[in-house]
Amino acid sequence: MIQAKARPLLTIVLAAGKGTRMKSDVPKVMHAMAGRSMLGHVLALATESGTTSTAVVVGPDMPTVRAEVATLTASASVFEQTRQRGTADAVLAARSAIAAHQGDVLVVFADTPLISAETVRKLVSALDQGAEVAVLGFHAKDATGYGRLVTDGLLTEGVANLLAIREHKDATPVERQIDFCNSGVMAFRTPELLTVLDAIGTNNASGEFYLTDAIAIMRQQGRRAVAVAGQEEEMLGVNTRAHLAMAEGVFQRRARARAMADGATLIDPGTVWFAYDTKIGRDVIIEPNVFFGPGVTVGDRVTIHANSHLVGATLEDGAQIGPFARLRRGTHLGQNTKIGNFVEVKNAVFEAGAKANHLAYIGDARIGTKANIGAGTIFCNYDGFFKHRTDVGAGAFIGSNSSLVAPVKIGDGAFVGSGSVITKNVEADALALARAVQEVHPGWAAKFRAVMSSRKARK
Ligand code: UD1
Ligand code: MG
Repeated sequence: MIQAKARPLLTIVLAAGKGTRMKSDVPKVMHAMAGRSMLGHVLALATESGTTSTAVVVGPDMPTVRAEVATLTASASVFEQTRQRGTADAVLAARSAIAAHQGDVLVVFADTPLISAETVRKLVSALDQGAEVAVLGFHAKDATGYGRLVTDGLLTEGVANLLAIREHKDATPVERQIDFCNSGVMAFRTPELLTVLDAIGTNNASGEFYLTDAIAIMRQQGRRAVAVAGQEEEMLGVNTRAHLAMAEGVFQRRARARAMADGATLIDPGTVWFAYDTKIGRDVIIEPNVFFGPGVTVGDRVTIHANSHLVGATLEDGAQIGPFARLRRGTHLGQNTKIGNFVEVKNAVFEAGAKANHLAYIGDARIGTKANIGAGTIFCNYDGFFKHRTDVGAGAFIGSNSSLVAPVKIGDGAFVGSGSVITKNVEADALALARAVQEVHPGWAAKFRAVMSSRKARK
């Protein structure tokens, strides 16, 4: 079978808006959903949608936005929109990228973090039927604030002939009745895109250059425009914190359903919070109130007891954690390891079968296979200036309430007596005691009581 060669696709991500309604010092698109910025979600979408080059339009003084682009899509070119004069003006900030490009142009808003690559690919492929622009739309339960898609009413297989887009502020009462809305994603296959964009003016309620005006202009020029209908759930545009919470809700509902479909038990799904990249194996049991930050991979047959918090951690098959476990960045739990209640682990490897069952801090360490870390043990990894490592050998036993002052090594099979403050290495199979020697004075307490009670009686 001969496959048509895909046309080059330039994706322009609009991320310059200040997002005044977020009431924030953080640029709108840097607000996070499921542990990743909205911009991050949209950059990933661009990559997954078959983009061949990406251009991101940012506002002035947005170093965090630039840094996010540099980290996630290093190949993207970044353009600055000096003043936020509307979405058409924002696209034109990437003028040189459009001028240099031969192929399709996709415009996506960085405040629309839930759209799937499959939906975008469907939109781009709608151009194959002769339209010069395809707009991704959806039927909204509450259309307030969205641009309305004015069509000739004919919708075949989810594709309608698009006549114009009317922004909410500019719509007549009759147009406001339309529930078919603009998601903001548009695909263009028009060689004269720049000419179209340059024709857009500011004669509207906001005094802005609306990208959405491109449709009426193209229709007047006799070009074909279509709207492709998608699922409302994907299209949510985030303009306020309430919208952000709604987007998070949609993401979490899907992530919980996926985890369960893949064979995990969530006792109370609504209280388990996943990150965008959480990986969960089979026969995993997750009790209520568990939070996953970015970078967590959970193997098979793992149990996560209630109220645990995990970020940047790998849990191999059969590990058990919690209740109230905190796993931080760089935690690696080997097979059948156990991290109990009120235990915090950071940048530490637990080899198979190792345990820390209660009340401990383990940081910058290796815990050898089957070693046991007693209750109340603290790894003193920080001297106020530098972090140091602790190494606990296989089968070692650290007695309760010990402090291991790093850098320090405990040999295989060694014992540390409880209450010890260990500052020197302990050789394999040795016993280390580093605490005051116990004194016992027989009869002392009885004598003390007698003296004190007669003194009190004399008062
Ligand atoms: C926009 C659409 C509306 C659509 C809705 C979908 C226009 C005129 N309106 O409205 O039809 O239903 O999205 O969510 O396009 N941006 C810039 N520079 C600017 C202005 C905006 O980069 O000067 C960026 C923003 O960062 C944002 C995106 O463009 O990522 C959309 O801007 P926003 O102000 O949120 O537009 P909406 O009012 O939501
Ligand atoms: Mg918006």
